[in-house]
Amino acid sequence: MCGIVGVLGQGPVAGAIVDALKRLEYRGYDSAGVATLHNGRLERRRAEGKLRNLEARLAAEPLGGAIGIGHTRWATHGKPTEANAHPHAARGLAVVHNGIIENFKALREELAAKGYAFVTETDSEIAALVVEDELAAGKTPAEAVFAALGRLRGAFALVYLFEGYEDLLIGARQGAPLAIGYGDGEMYLGSDALALAPFTDRVAYLEDGDWVVVTRAGAEVFDSGGVSVQRRIQRSPVGSLLAEKGNYRHFMAKEIHEQPEVVGHTLAHYIDMASMRLKPFDWPVDPATLRRLTIIACGTAYMAGLVGKYWIERFARLPVEVDVASEYRYREAPVDPDGLTLVISQSGETADTLASLKYVKERGSKTVGVVNVPDSSIARLTDAAAPTLAGPEIGVASTKAFTCQLAALAALAIALGRARGTVGDEEEGALLAELVATPGLIAEALKLERATEKLAQGIAHARDVLYLGRGTGYPLALEGALKLKELTYIHAEGYAAGELKHGPIALIDPDMPVVVLAPRDAVFEKTVSNMQEVAARGGRIILIGARHAAEEAAVEIERFLAMPDVGANFAPIVYAVPVQLLAYHTAVLMGKDADQPRNLAKSVTVE
Ligand code: G6P
Repeated sequence: MCGIVGVLGQGPVAGAIVDALKRLEYRGYDSAGVATLHNGRLERRRAEGKLRNLEARLAAEPLGGAIGIGHTRWATHGKPTEANAHPHAARGLAVVHNGIIENFKALREELAAKGYAFVTETDSEIAALVVEDELAAGKTPAEAVFAALGRLRGAFALVYLFEGYEDLLIGARQGAPLAIGYGDGEMYLGSDALALAPFTDRVAYLEDGDWVVVTRAGAEVFDSGGVSVQRRIQRSPVGSLLAEKGNYRHFMAKEIHEQPEVVGHTLAHYIDMASMRLKPFDWPVDPATLRRLTIIACGTAYMAGLVGKYWIERFARLPVEVDVASEYRYREAPVDPDGLTLVISQSGETADTLASLKYVKERGSKTVGVVNVPDSSIARLTDAAAPTLAGPEIGVASTKAFTCQLAALAALAIALGRARGTVGDEEEGALLAELVATPGLIAEALKLERATEKLAQGIAHARDVLYLGRGTGYPLALEGALKLKELTYIHAEGYAAGELKHGPIALIDPDMPVVVLAPRDAVFEKTVSNMQEVAARGGRIILIGARHAAEEAAVEIERFLAMPDVGANFAPIVYAVPVQLLAYHTAVLMGKDADQPRNLAKSVTVE
């Protein structure tokens, strides 16, 4: 999703802005640009594609100036061309924008009638022209932005730069994140603390509706009513975690390998490892009174929610519905005012998830957020935090955040069972012992990386791939197919193995790789039967399964990855590893960009 940076510096800032934009590359983008004030004049450089194109442009035509704004654009309205790239300029100002201005068509007509001309296909240009319109009415920059914000609808973050104002940036936040960075005689604005990390670790987050007037002396924040407000300056831990690849070729590989550690950290948040008991969890409603639990999320977080459903229903005997946020928010779902909703999000900023959260809150439901970014919008809006401690995830395709979400959900499922009286003392101990074994088993599974690379060779030339699983292996099959298609652009589908005979079996032929996930659990034998159905039709079976699973299946298996022995309950936390590695190595074999797959964004702050 679009990334925003603004710098009020003491020397030339264009290079520093590009460096900060590099920290935001992980969000996904397809063009970039910088604008500065140089000798009082506004100048811009923009380029299609990656930041290196912008750097080349800047090398050919350098940009001076000690104040500037920069942007990485993830196209929503209009193609990723240079003309549509930010910053957008109007008379006397430039702006960078993240999000969507919903009423841009109406505003466009209104301004066109007044004689304003449009040079882009974007909704963002309107954010520049509305302010120009207000300036033309004789307002100061701050007055003009305040008035313009009253005319813009949608979810967005904006930063403005004004010609002739060498010591002024104005930012605004309405639904998309924006943070203020405090330096020494310098000030910054950025989409998140990671963007600001090269400059400072002193950060304040704007609230929704806030706008801020920034000079080198500091920042004054105003709320949507124009009243001056205080926003706490905090030390951001991100500075010490500056995202580096280390010895890995891709962030994704690094993040896959971090999983034993971060899943361990996450579990340690919920479990007292010494006594092997759950730590108390502050439920915002009494779980014993619940009739149903709703889980809402998008993408990989949604897949985690599907796994969570199996655990919560099994351990806590509580019916669970899981919904993709983009559907939930618009289908006028009835909300139990005494109920509980769990939202899952790595970034904590996903627009559809955030909107669904607001929807259930307005209707009285209490909320728990399984979120990875502690200061994010979702983390701050939920009644109770169930954090994942994955650390910053840079690879666009979620990996370590997913397994940490699973770890948190597993702990919450057991906690719900305890609170509802469906899990006793002894079972709690046994389940937790099984759960805390998962980080070690992930480490063992990572040792199978070479073998997974071999499996990838069986996939790289396929046109379509089917993933099959049963029980918690079913949502993991969905996640496996999602990972493969997003990283390699090979068409893949995940199916409940038992559904094979109701349709997808028609696709099986000698060209079709079928990845079967078969941990030794209650449905292992059933999965083996489904494998036999595939083999009988000449399908190419790639089995990721329990030791001896291949012999027990007694069918021809093209490739077999024998997994470490995993307890029956929490297998998906461990089986996620080969699933991720398979997609990653297939992408690498095919020469695809594993960290930034085409068209995808890390943090999807538009609907
Ligand atoms: C994007 C990312 C996915 C992620 C999804 C939900 O599509 O590419 O990896 O699962 O958003 O994001 P969230 O931050 O809410 O977990």
